[in-house]
Formats: sequence, structure tokens, C-alpha cells
Amino acid sequence: MSEAFDAVDVIIAKRDRHELTDEQIRWVVDAYTREAVAEEQMSSLAMAILLNGMTRREIATWTAAMIASGERMDFSALSRPTADKHSTGGVGDKITLPLAPLVAVFDVAVPQLSGRGLGHTGGTLDKLESIPGWQAGLSNEAMLRQLEDVGAVICAAGSGLAPADKKLYALRDVTGTVEAIPLIASSIMSKKIAEGTGALVLDVKVGSGAFMKNLEDATELARTMVALGTDAGVTTVALLTDMSTPLGLTAGNALEVRESVEVLAGGGPADVVELTVRLAEEMLEAAGRGGQDVRAALTDGRAMDAWRRMIAAQGGDPDATLPVAEHTQEVKATSSGVLTRLDAYAVGVAAWRLGAGRARKEDPVQAGAGVEMHAKPGDTVREGDVLLTLHTDTPERFARAEEALDGGIEIGGTEPEATSVVLDRIA
Ligand code: URA
Repeated sequence: MSEAFDAVDVIIAKRDRHELTDEQIRWVVDAYTREAVAEEQMSSLAMAILLNGMTRREIATWTAAMIASGERMDFSALSRPTADKHSTGGVGDKITLPLAPLVAVFDVAVPQLSGRGLGHTGGTLDKLESIPGWQAGLSNEAMLRQLEDVGAVICAAGSGLAPADKKLYALRDVTGTVEAIPLIASSIMSKKIAEGTGALVLDVKVGSGAFMKNLEDATELARTMVALGTDAGVTTVALLTDMSTPLGLTAGNALEVRESVEVLAGGGPADVVELTVRLAEEMLEAAGRGGQDVRAALTDGRAMDAWRRMIAAQGGDPDATLPVAEHTQEVKATSSGVLTRLDAYAVGVAAWRLGAGRARKEDPVQAGAGVEMHAKPGDTVREGDVLLTLHTDTPERFARAEEALDGGIEIGGTEPEATSVVLDRIA
């Protein structure tokens, strides 16, 4: 087949800071998906995009081309509105687990297509797979049926959805090109628009444990994604939320499921509850069902009932004992004072090295591995207090996990300023 463009010309245009035309973008995304553009050529183009950026028009065309690379789902046959949430990825971010059943309580269907962890950020599917019997893969028909019967589904995106993104995301991961705003925005929004949700709430993480390290970059990413969603007819809102310290008191698969169940039982750490409730309120509002007492559904058992039905519908046993790691090691405070820093990136890397995450896509994860935290920034600690418990099945990993935590824990004399988890809202 003779090609409309030459990949090298497209790469050179972006390298030399020119805007790509709509035709060039449509061609390069399509040709890459059908393997007429080589991995090394796309790798070079991705780096040129990371370094030189894209205009809003280029990003919109790139996103549309990624959507067009695969199928679009359709939830219009459902008897209720749909709302989805997407987080840009963080440490201890288990919010999807309590959030999906909580929103379903209010008669809004939640089609939550999720991913696996790579690097220091955890993946929702890895967490749920620590529940004995639970299956991540569902056909589109099974997904629709569960949305109608239970109201919430958390599952893996099928291979037909935005295949261009699947290829490109894997390439970016190994070529140092993940952190490009145009590429993150188009990656996330192509999947969400193709999925066909009516409303979308984005949780854009900011801080050491996130892809976006500062508020300025996170705001730019959030604005770009909200514009892409709105232009595609999806009611889209973004919250910018703090990821300088882990969410909650656990990072690791089964450890995070346990904490999520605590939240669904009306307890759990305050920051996890705050963010779960706030995101649920935003999702209900965006789906046209705002103004409800969301917190009450966590304390009166309705969200827990929906969780149990959601887990059981995918083969999981909600009453099963969760896996526990074979070995633990404590990390103790080396002085007395106020815990001023518990760095999200350091904890994320430690959990990853303990076996909670994977270095390559095909690696298995340990269900019980991870980091349990016994104090949060602002807490007073005494020398010798246990700050963290490290969990793993493979104790030779403890030393590398402890190395990751080096410099990530600070104890000082004064309390850090109290901050809310939610830093800003963009609509
Ligand atoms: N999540 C995605 O789906 N894509 C990205 O590029 C980053 C986070």
C-alpha cells in the first residue's frame, strides 16, 4: 500500500516545532496501529511531542484518531445515566474500589474500565485480583448486563478499545515519554470517550507520587482533558488532588482492598473517605443526580451491599480471607517530633520493590506485598515508634525497599500546614 505521508517528514516537522496538520496526525496514528510506522519512528515522534508540545487542535485530532483506531461502546440502552472516574495514578490510590459501588447506590451506573500498575503507581485490577476468584476480563455484553443488574463494574478494557493507545502507552513506558501532557491527555480521554460514559470526573494527581509534580502542569493537563471531554459531549469535571503523601494508610494490593472495605463499612482513614465522598458527589452532579447524602450510604451499609454484589458478579468471594504476606519488617522513628514528610514516591517505590508492582508488563505481582503506614504527616511520633510495616513474600526485598524510603521520611519540630486532599476544581 502506498502511504500518504512519510513518517520521517512528520517526525522532522515536530522536531522543528511545526504544527502537524490534521491529515498528518490521522495518518501517523492509523499507520502506527497497522504497523506501517515503526516503533522507533513513533518513539522519536513521542519524544519530539514531549519536548515541543502540541496545540489544542493537534491534541484534539490526535485523540480523535486514537478513538477511531478501535471500537466505541454504547451504554444508551441502560435504564440509568452513566458516570466514570479516572485518576492519573498515585500511591495508595484505592478510591475506585469504594467509589464505584457508592455511586451505584444512587442509581447512576459506573462503567469503570481500569488498568494494571506499572512502575511505582498501583493498578486497580491488581488490587481486586487479590480477592479470591475475582475476574478482571468481561465481554462487552457481560459488562452491560452487570451495569444493569448491579450498577457498577470494574474491569479491564477490552482489546478493541483504542488499540493505538495500548501500543503507544507500552512504547512511552520504555522510552521516557510518559510525562508529556498532550500524550497523557489523549491517552486517557481517547479511552474514556470510546468507552461511551455520559459523565466523567477526572482525579488529576499533583505531587511527588504523581506524573505531574507541580500545580501548574497538573492544571494544564486538567484543562486539556476537560476541554477534550466537553467537546466530545461528555460532561467532564476535574479535581486536582494532593499526591505528595500516600492516600490512606496502605499501599499494596490486598492491603488496599482491606482498607477500602473499612471505608465501605463506615470507617477507614479520613483522607480516603473525604476524597471518595467528594468524587461521588461530583459524579452524581455530573450525571444529573446531585444533592444527595452520599456519606450516609457508607455508614448505613448500602455501599457495602453494592460492593458485595459487584465483587460476586465477577466471581469474587466478598467474604474470603485476603492474602497476607509471609514476612514483615518494621520501620521505626529515629527521633521524636512531628512527622513532617512521608513521601508518596518513596512509599510507592518501596511497595513496588516489595512485590506489589511489576517491572515489566508480564511480571506477576504479590497480592500481600506492600507498605502499611502507622502515622501520617502532622502526627506526633516518639523515637522507636513503628512508622511503617513492610510486607513481602520474598524477604530479600526488604533492603531495597528500605533504600527507597531513605530521605522520604522526615521528623521535625513543627507541624506541617494542614491541607485538604482536594486542591482545585476545573470544569
Ligand atoms: N493513564 C493513562 O491511561 N495514560 C497515560 O498516559 C497516563 C496515565
